[in-house]
Amino acid sequence: MSIDQLAEIAQAMVAAGKGIIAIDESNSTIKKRFDGVGIDCTEENRRAYREMLLTTPNLGEYISGAILFDETLRQKTKDGVPFTELMMKNGIIPGIKVDKGPQPLAGFPGEVVTEGLDGLRERLKEYAQLGARFAKWRAVINIGEDMPSGTAIEANSHMLARYAALCQEAGIVPMVEPEVIMDGDHDIDTCYEVTEIVLRSLFAALYDQNVMLEGTILKASMVVSGKDCPEQASVDEVAELTVRCLKAAVPANLPGIVFLSGGQSDEAATAHLNAMNNLGPLPWPLSFSYGRAMQTAALKLWSKDLVGNVGVAQQTVFARAKDNGLAALGEWVK
Ligand code: 13P
Repeated sequence: MSIDQLAEIAQAMVAAGKGIIAIDESNSTIKKRFDGVGIDCTEENRRAYREMLLTTPNLGEYISGAILFDETLRQKTKDGVPFTELMMKNGIIPGIKVDKGPQPLAGFPGEVVTEGLDGLRERLKEYAQLGARFAKWRAVINIGEDMPSGTAIEANSHMLARYAALCQEAGIVPMVEPEVIMDGDHDIDTCYEVTEIVLRSLFAALYDQNVMLEGTILKASMVVSGKDCPEQASVDEVAELTVRCLKAAVPANLPGIVFLSGGQSDEAATAHLNAMNNLGPLPWPLSFSYGRAMQTAALKLWSKDLVGNVGVAQQTVFARAKDNGLAALGEWVK
């Protein structure tokens, strides 16, 4: 696939007023979410839940793509339609999470590095055949005493860049996600400093590995106060510092940036995105790739009655997509 074709997919992922729904929870992560609402984590319940999300009527109005987990990419609706086929029909680009999760970084207690490069070339080939057009790899950066270390930042950037190069070789748009974790009592300025260093390191590594930015999407964490910081930054501060940080560290030829929600409330995730899009003009579209901030309310509704609540749960999914789609244009009204 040519760079022009990759660029076309990347641009479609961040089309005006649209964003991405992340439903790529690994089986152990979705089990935690299901446990929280009293649902058994069986393969059929996982399939039915993802079917509920993906068959939300008119979802494609505000959703450009969905990130799936390996199991989900291979599943079908109860009527036998492959999820990927259904998505393409509704204008939703199939994506796939390909990392194997964070593991402790030897020699650096409290820090992690994401694994999953071994055999990735073969897996990507299969994912492309199954219909995936973009992929996601999440690196985790923790803030704490003497953390993050330069070693952890470099190791994660290197993995992200190797992954991204393999994706482009396979004709798949890499979404690179270096998540600076919100946990901790650090202030927003610390988060800014760490996020800028992490992004600079990532783009240097992408350059080293010959990754074409025109066919790459950044999934970023916002610059926020640590969850336990006594002084919580306002919506406007989060927006201003996040945009300033991105402008300082992200090249303008990147087709777009989407955010993770990272544990923010549904409303905060929407309000922050909206406020950022009111600080334009910006070098790139800023949109969303939320997991929890798209699904939490719907999962609660769906769980009360696996069959009866599908319609109500889907209305909630659509409402979250619409609010975030409007926020991607700076047009959301509380
Ligand atoms: P959250 O929006 O719940 O942080 O999930 C997004 C995601 O894909 C994390 O990798």
